[in-house]
Amino acid sequence: MSSLLEKIPIIRDKALQAIGSAETAPDLEKIRVEFLGTKGRLPELTRQVGTLPAEMRPAAGQAANKALKEVKEAFLNAQTVLNRAKSQKSALDVTLPGRRPTLGHQHLISRTMSEICRIFEKLGFTVVEGPEVETDYYNFEALNFPADHPSRDMQESLFVGDKLLLRTHTSPVQIRTMEKQSPPVWVVAPGKTYRRDDDITHSPMFHQVEGLVVDKGITMTDLKGILSAFATAFFSPDTAIRLRPSFFPFTEPSAEVDIACVLCGGRGCRLCKGSGWLELLGSGMVDPALYNFVGYDPREISGFAFGLGVDRAAMLKYGLSNIRHLYEGDLRFLEQF
Ligand code: PHE
Repeated sequence: MSSLLEKIPIIRDKALQAIGSAETAPDLEKIRVEFLGTKGRLPELTRQVGTLPAEMRPAAGQAANKALKEVKEAFLNAQTVLNRAKSQKSALDVTLPGRRPTLGHQHLISRTMSEICRIFEKLGFTVVEGPEVETDYYNFEALNFPADHPSRDMQESLFVGDKLLLRTHTSPVQIRTMEKQSPPVWVVAPGKTYRRDDDITHSPMFHQVEGLVVDKGITMTDLKGILSAFATAFFSPDTAIRLRPSFFPFTEPSAEVDIACVLCGGRGCRLCKGSGWLELLGSGMVDPALYNFVGYDPREISGFAFGLGVDRAAMLKYGLSNIRHLYEGDLRFLEQF
């Protein structure tokens, strides 16, 4: 039994040596089990201390505890070193596939909106903007919607205050522009618009591009020429348009503009409900009543205006059947464009 005191450093050294030469985590674990595990060699020595004669126990006990402590420390150090080497190795593994940086892109609506504006800019228009929260005056009154007139019911308005609402169309920008500048006016006004409306082709928030031209000698042929140039640039070079009589309080005469069906080219199909035509925008000659509100002289100028639904234009151009695709933020949809 005298040999226990001698055995302790021998086993300790064996353990330290094994730890020092362990190259992998599993190797190190085997060594831990052999020397430090519950049935390991060092705990076994500690247990043997109890069998020694009383006078020998303190010295042997101390030596066994010290050895245990040293080996535990060496084990923990080796473990740290191995872990660090492992993570450094994977950080530098040049054989791993590279991580592609994710690049974002414009939303389909933003893209369509700038595409539309770019076409009109080429035709000589300037881009202007107006507020989304509008007063009754700009959204209705100055656009010749008489107070309490049923024509206001054409628009399912969302009010936020007494005479304050989310604009139901971009037409108020017509008035704001004419207030600020005198003719000639050639502007387009893109932006968000709001109506109490929600189904597969209507969203309560949608987008319009307003157009306004006021200049000397402007006639209906200018309206038709500009909108035809737009349709061929935006859809395809052979896109035909047609004008249908319509009504808006702020234009007289007014016309609904249709384009030849993007799907069947005019022969008639399910998309155009057999008519060969698709409704694209509202337009008309600026009603001279508007000039009174902004101080223009109707004897000197005339003009036309139009309001184009951007969401609708995007749906027609890209063949979308449900407007919600545009607003759900589903990347599987958005990444196609
Ligand atoms: N503001 C009309 C609408 O939202 C469209 C329009 C604009 C019609 C300009 C004529 C002239 O439906």
